[in-house]
Amino acid sequence: MEKKRILSGMRPTGRLHLGNLHGALQNWVRLQDDYECFYFVADWHALTTDYEQTEGIRENIWYMLIDWLSVGLDPQKATLFAQSALLEHAELFVLFSMITPIAWLERNPTYKEQLQELSHKDLRTFGFLGYPVLQAADILIYKADKVPVGIDQLPHVELTREIARRFNFLYGPVFPEPEALLTEVPKLTGTDGRKMSKSYQNCIYLSDPPEVIRKQVSGMITDTKRPRRKDPGDPDRCLAFPYHLLYLPEETLEQIKRDCRSAALGCVECKKMLADALVRALEPVQAKQRYYADHPEEVRAILADGNERARRVAQATMAEVREAMKI
Ligand code: TRP
Repeated sequence: MEKKRILSGMRPTGRLHLGNLHGALQNWVRLQDDYECFYFVADWHALTTDYEQTEGIRENIWYMLIDWLSVGLDPQKATLFAQSALLEHAELFVLFSMITPIAWLERNPTYKEQLQELSHKDLRTFGFLGYPVLQAADILIYKADKVPVGIDQLPHVELTREIARRFNFLYGPVFPEPEALLTEVPKLTGTDGRKMSKSYQNCIYLSDPPEVIRKQVSGMITDTKRPRRKDPGDPDRCLAFPYHLLYLPEETLEQIKRDCRSAALGCVECKKMLADALVRALEPVQAKQRYYADHPEEVRAILADGNERARRVAQATMAEVREAMKI
């Protein structure tokens, strides 16, 4: 049986952190075996909010690719490519823009939220409003069956389905309607209790050296209802404990839960165990990061090959699209 096709993209934010790893990347890695996967760097999408500051983008693409490879995305299994290398996406974006009602875009909840949240930036641009149209082109040009995304991206996948339907209605059936594959994400917060995000500076990066990891972990908020060492704690209230669940072995976890609740174990010591486990878990990832940093020609070849593989599929779809539209 033919494997179903997966497509997903990530804006190039540079070095990746544990939030990226557990929120998306690990899922991408798992999907590689059961699906035909296309994963790409959405560098044009980065411009929708950062058009005034473009100098970091190339470097960000580079580090993101290295981090993808270092956590186990395998170019033998998945096609890894860059959006800006595939001009076909831009062509499909133009054609979709002709048939997409502005009202669909203006009512998009993610659009409205971001306008408010990023009020320090001028986002009253055509490109920012049209963000989901470009995303629809990204997805539909590969006729993806499933799109693994976080919950904030659901409106965009829904719009993609609507655009596919409208295209098929106007010009005949070309596009399947893709489905979102909602990632079951563990409740991991940044060190300050907010969502882990580069802009909050509350991240633990996959590339952080051991002493930085130790410092970041020791600063993590734990159980705020346990102000003193001798107070009994509750792992269910502790903001670090979701990390313990991921990085410590079962037996140790049981012990920690007991000793936290009886106040036999203090937060400082408990976070030290976590830091040790994290440092150890990230060692092989960091070895790969060093390897790829030392072999840039290998990374470039992987990207060139991925771009080529993506292009074959994208070009075939565009031939069908032009035929259907009679242009
Ligand atoms: N908008 C997505 C994000 O910010 C990135 C993205 C662009 C994407 N095109 C895509 C995700 C296509 C999935 C499919 O996370």
